[in-house]
Amino acid sequence: MQVSAAILPLQALRAAFGKRLRPGVSIARYTSARIGGSADALVDVHSAEELAEAAQMLWKLDLPFIVLGGGSNMLVSDAGVREVVLLNQSSRVKFGDESQPTVWAESGASLGAIARQAARKGLGGLEWAAGIPGTLGGALVGNAGAHGGNLSMVLDLADILHREKGKLQWSAPDLAFKYRESWLKRNPGQAVVLSAQLALSHSAEREIRAQMDTFLAYRRLTQPPGASMGSMFKNPPGDSAGRLIEAAGLKGKRIGNAQISPLHGNFFLNLGEARAVDVFALIQAARRAVQAQFGIELELEIELVGEWQPSH
Ligand code: EPU
Repeated sequence: MQVSAAILPLQALRAAFGKRLRPGVSIARYTSARIGGSADALVDVHSAEELAEAAQMLWKLDLPFIVLGGGSNMLVSDAGVREVVLLNQSSRVKFGDESQPTVWAESGASLGAIARQAARKGLGGLEWAAGIPGTLGGALVGNAGAHGGNLSMVLDLADILHREKGKLQWSAPDLAFKYRESWLKRNPGQAVVLSAQLALSHSAEREIRAQMDTFLAYRRLTQPPGASMGSMFKNPPGDSAGRLIEAAGLKGKRIGNAQISPLHGNFFLNLGEARAVDVFALIQAARRAVQAQFGIELELEIELVGEWQPSH
């Protein structure tokens, strides 16, 4: 999130990235909520190597940037994004041989797709991830999880490009994972994830699929379809953000075309052309009501991206 509007030097960016630079790109279509204004500059990256080169170039030019993966855990402001957006379309996936039940993938690969490919090969460990939207890189930064599993539990090694230290291989302790958090989330702009290797286990395809189907059915029953950001708030210790928002009487509350899902209180929906400020007003309403009625401060799970007023 940034509050001051820096003007990006488009000529220098054009010289660095050529045709891969796209100025003035509407970001909404790259997010799962389908919300957000334009990015001043977007650069397409198609591989881990291109991502590393682009990050290095931007650090050299001292220009701020964000890496956009699946856009599934963020709310982009209506005013848009003043940092350079690196659109991570890297997608290579490689499985280890028989003796090594592992998968290595570039950070732009879809986590759900990796989980489904693993199932087809009789490799378990990612059953919880089948229905999670977004990329491996995003999942690693935010320690994505569901149904008792999370990324920190399966990470073998992550290939990281660190602004000062260059290329590093980090294991789970280096990434200092917490609930829906990692070192990378707490230190924005300091490093990017290029790729990662996950540890899997041999298992019967039938069993893996049965487990995935159970999880997917639970999601279909409890979570709304349609455009949203996924879980809006982290669950406070020992409780659930959805339950608290429901108990505060806010399920179904609507501002403009943004609505707190009538099905699950921690999902905020875009009913069609919703504005980010309207979603933000719902966030504030939920926080205030839960604070006033239960004395609990809800913490955002999603990231606010782009240019927001200082009061936000
Ligand atoms: N609940 C309510 N009212 C609601 C919603 C939920 O009373 O409106 C109650 C449910 O009845 C249940 C409890 O709250 O007893 C927990 O709800 P649920 O099982 O739906 O799980 P959750 O805690 O809301 C978490 C993750 C999800 C993940 C599911 C399933 C967080 C913030 N959310 O949701 O992850 O899919 O468990 O494992 O940790 C995500 O992080 O984006 C995400 C979708």
